[in-house]
Amino acid sequence: MSTAAKIVIVGAGRIAWHLGKRLKSKGLSVAQVISRTAEHAELLAQTLQCNWTNDWSELLSDADWILLAVRDDAIADVAGQLAPFSQDALVTHTSGGTPGAVLKPFFGRFGVFYPLQSFSFERSPVWSKIPFCVDAQEENDVLFLKKIAKTIGNLVYRVNDEQRSALHVAAVFANNFSNHCFSIAEKLLDEKNLTFELLHPLMEETLAKALQDSPARMQTGPAIRGDADTIRRHLALLQDHPDWKGLYKNLSESINPGLSI
Ligand SMILES: NC(=O)c1ccc[n+]([C@@H]2O[C@H](COP(=O)([O-])OP(=O)(O)OC[C@H]3O[C@@H](n4cnc5c(N)ncnc54)[C@H](OP(=O)(O)O)[C@@H]3O)[C@@H](O)[C@H]2O)c1
Repeated sequence: MSTAAKIVIVGAGRIAWHLGKRLKSKGLSVAQVISRTAEHAELLAQTLQCNWTNDWSELLSDADWILLAVRDDAIADVAGQLAPFSQDALVTHTSGGTPGAVLKPFFGRFGVFYPLQSFSFERSPVWSKIPFCVDAQEENDVLFLKKIAKTIGNLVYRVNDEQRSALHVAAVFANNFSNHCFSIAEKLLDEKNLTFELLHPLMEETLAKALQDSPARMQTGPAIRGDADTIRRHLALLQDHPDWKGLYKNLSESINPGLSI
């Protein structure tokens, strides 16, 4: 399959918008948007200047690549709805946390096209820095997905289901959980009328160090030092926030299993 392939995007959320616009800007042929909510499908299709529908049976019969960009829990259901109309197209989802094998009952050619980044409507992706983790059942389809990823980005990896599951758990720790910790820190400062900006240099240094060397070697703070009295004082200060207190204790013990607090 060549990069002239006719592409159908299923879904009209964050990934559908960002990938759709990027594919189109690189001259690839986005031919249709299908999404559950008609207004969402229409709006994205207007931007991509392509056909749209919210009726699965109106899937273009000559589609070459169907890119499922729907919520993880809806992938199997949507795959089942599209399967009777998909002919011999390659069908991939974009989920890090969902095995490609969920598509196997529905399609002869299936795979995964997972861009490992956090996408929001408010920010423009830096495509050259996004790792694309691709996989497919057939070697020709892997080559096709790699070629597409190279066209719209720069970093391309072949990652199987088992590796991608681990990668996704790791990404949740690296991104979602660290961001939640930032959010707790912001609220703690807010309670004392302090600006979150006070922590910006520390946050920047944390990331710079973790990128420079193994984060395990770069760990600092009371837990790794074994400063149990300081930790007990912190836990007492978190008395009114039992959730955060539990997190603080668990994380401290994870950093230093020898702690007695
Ligand atoms: N956002 C990220 O940072 C990111 C990064 C990498 C991979 N991904 C993956 O990309 C996929 C889409 O994520 P997203 O962030 O784009 O999600 P999103 O912005 O929340 O959009 C979800 C889309 O799923 C559709 N949908 C939800 N429930 C559905 C159902 N029951 N039946 C049919 N369609 C349904 C919605 O359709 P309507 O709008 O038409 O209702 C919507 O277009 C997920 O598999 C996610 O794991 C996301």
